[in-house]
Amino acid sequence: MSLYTAVRPLLFKLPPETAHSLGKLGLRAAQSTDFTRSLVRDQYLYRHRKLEVEAFGLTFPSPVGIAAGFDKDGHVLQAIADLGFGFTEVGTVTPSPQDGESKPRLFRLPDDDGMINRLAFNGQGAGRVDDRLDRTELPDIPISINVGKMNDSDEEGAIEDYRYVFERLYDHADYFVVNVSCPNTPEEYDEEDPDHLRKIFSTLNEANPEDKPILVKVGPDSGREGLASLVDIVHEQGIDGIVATNTTTDHSGLESEHADEWGGVSGDPLEPKATETVRTLAGLTDLPIVGVGGVRDAETAYRKIRAGASLVQLYTGFVYEGPSTARQINTGLVELLDRDGFDSISEAVGVDAEN
Ligand SMILES: Cc1cc2nc3c(=O)[nH]c(=O)nc-3n(C[C@H](O)[C@H](O)[C@H](O)COP(=O)(O)O)c2cc1C
Repeated sequence: MSLYTAVRPLLFKLPPETAHSLGKLGLRAAQSTDFTRSLVRDQYLYRHRKLEVEAFGLTFPSPVGIAAGFDKDGHVLQAIADLGFGFTEVGTVTPSPQDGESKPRLFRLPDDDGMINRLAFNGQGAGRVDDRLDRTELPDIPISINVGKMNDSDEEGAIEDYRYVFERLYDHADYFVVNVSCPNTPEEYDEEDPDHLRKIFSTLNEANPEDKPILVKVGPDSGREGLASLVDIVHEQGIDGIVATNTTTDHSGLESEHADEWGGVSGDPLEPKATETVRTLAGLTDLPIVGVGGVRDAETAYRKIRAGASLVQLYTGFVYEGPSTARQINTGLVELLDRDGFDSISEAVGVDAEN
């Protein structure tokens, strides 16, 4: 039994946001000295040449990354790298600080191995994140910044919000993700409306002197037609990849106590839908796909890769599996690649995709 398996029942007695803050404090302590960093790396970091992935011009030492929302304000980048994750996403970052929804707004679904959240872009805002990243020695893994809008912005204001965050944090990001799929933010207008998406992408393309990769993050609930129309715009605007998926509004089949709380569902209950979204997208585009939703072990990561994901991310799986998550997935992926006779992750990408 791992230490985390022993500690988890105690952590799960705390309100989820308190447990999350405690976990982050632990990670901050772990990255605070060279000595603790090397202890963490000795215990958890695993690298293997078969795990290296090239996507949108960047090299990822492992295809397993941390998803948006876990480190919204960029506090624990080194610890995430030391634990063996191959990349991480800061954000969603909004132009100004924002409180999000009132608490409680994060619920564990222990009988479903999932979570419901309606945080709605709480965060310190682009200025504080910029200052922090200026002071931070960035780890040697790709860092993406997930850009978002203020909850009270109208359609025009939202475009300016995305541009502001993009420009303010430009120097800190290896690539950007535009988040137009949060199911918890107030919907003043249709965020996935083709003209709106076109305006966002063309605005960011104009504000991108170094041509840094820009990806878009989609939800799992749009259906094939919605995805096809999004892919058309992505191709037209020269967007570099797609992150699939955000949380789902579908609460069917949930059995835990808080199943009826409103908000986006993540973790195990989202996994089949998110994987199908990856598969559908892989049939619609050759662009790299970052698969996210219910990844928690090597099998779930590999399923997304075989469905068409070049990279995978996770959040809820980390909460349930603890600090050894990346190590377990990384070592397990190498075994699965060996079993199937693949020499690299890229050989396995999309072997189960739609044609
Ligand atoms: C508490 C929480 C906060 C999140 N915040 C964000 C966010 O700010 N921006 C975003 O794009 N996705 C956010 N997400 C969605 C995750 O990045 C991910 O897409 C989703 O949780 C599915 O992955 P998982 O099943 O591994 O958790 C959040 C998820 C959770 C559980």
